[in-house]
Amino acid sequence: MISSYKIYSAPLQGFTTHVWRNAHARIFGGIDCYLSPFMRIEHGSMLKRDLNDVNPDNNSGIPFIPQILACKPDDATMMVCHLRELGYKHINVNLGCPFPPIALRHKGSGMLPYPAEVESLFNALAQISDITYSVKMRLGWDADGQWKEVLPLMSIISPAHITVHPCIGRDQYKGNLNLDELDQFMACCEFPVIYNGEITSQADIQSITQRWPSLHGIMIGRALASNPALLCPEKATTQNYSAMHDEIYRHFTDTLDGGEHQVLKKMQSFWELYLLHADRKSRKAIKKATSIAKYEAAVDSLFAAL
Ligand SMILES: Cc1cc2nc3c(=O)[nH]c(=O)nc-3n(C[C@H](O)[C@H](O)[C@H](O)COP(=O)(O)O)c2cc1C
Repeated sequence: MISSYKIYSAPLQGFTTHVWRNAHARIFGGIDCYLSPFMRIEHGSMLKRDLNDVNPDNNSGIPFIPQILACKPDDATMMVCHLRELGYKHINVNLGCPFPPIALRHKGSGMLPYPAEVESLFNALAQISDITYSVKMRLGWDADGQWKEVLPLMSIISPAHITVHPCIGRDQYKGNLNLDELDQFMACCEFPVIYNGEITSQADIQSITQRWPSLHGIMIGRALASNPALLCPEKATTQNYSAMHDEIYRHFTDTLDGGEHQVLKKMQSFWELYLLHADRKSRKAIKKATSIAKYEAAVDSLFAAL
């Protein structure tokens, strides 16, 4: 059997924003589709930051699916209707977020132990016309088998694909994958499946697609955030890495009005994931920088040593 699979860029809240997506697509590419970090409702409305991120003007020419996170059907309906007005026809539903303040409110992976709530959510989504859904999920919140009661409900929305990160929410990002449970999931699932979790190399992609040749796709998060050239090694040049940094840095410098400390904070959190293989001393200096001048000097020395 010949396997043909698509490569998806995983959503990483605060990282894979429209600025990152645009820079990545232009400088590196190699991604069939980007997912946006989830939008949510807070105090009855959508966040300005989230709306800015999915604004079609900020995503033109990029293959991209917006994602929503909600447990209340009304919240989900508000976001989907808004996205439909913006022209989106495909929306991803987050049933995977493990962040306790979210999951303990029965959102993200915290919804998986409550199939009746998933059913109400899906019933509301299914009533909205002209939208295709996909789902991103874990195997469960606190038990590997919780997907078993959720999977039969998928037929309510007939997702275009289901991305599975084969672990439980309670384990956060410890990397405790349960591939045997994923075997069972694959055997029971009638919808196209995208594999997600701990992919760090082309060899990992090969071993996953060999194990499950029928996979629709592979989704990569942290390893792509760290090395945006993961899928195009020929583009792994200092010039390209530096161009990606500069584009993001310029965006924050141009748009943030909270002074240099706000820019510093944003850039330091960018370096939490970016170029983890780069010189340790420079990375430490970036993390500790207390002024833009020190920050820029540390970044220059990192790129000089790359
Ligand atoms: C900082 C961070 C933010 C994340 N934000 C989201 C998000 O907004 N939506 C989502 O579905 N998953 C989110 N995830 C999960 C990733 O999309 C992905 O499922 C997870 O990192 C496993 O893939 P990886 O091992 O390739 O990184 C986030 C993960 C991290 C580390």
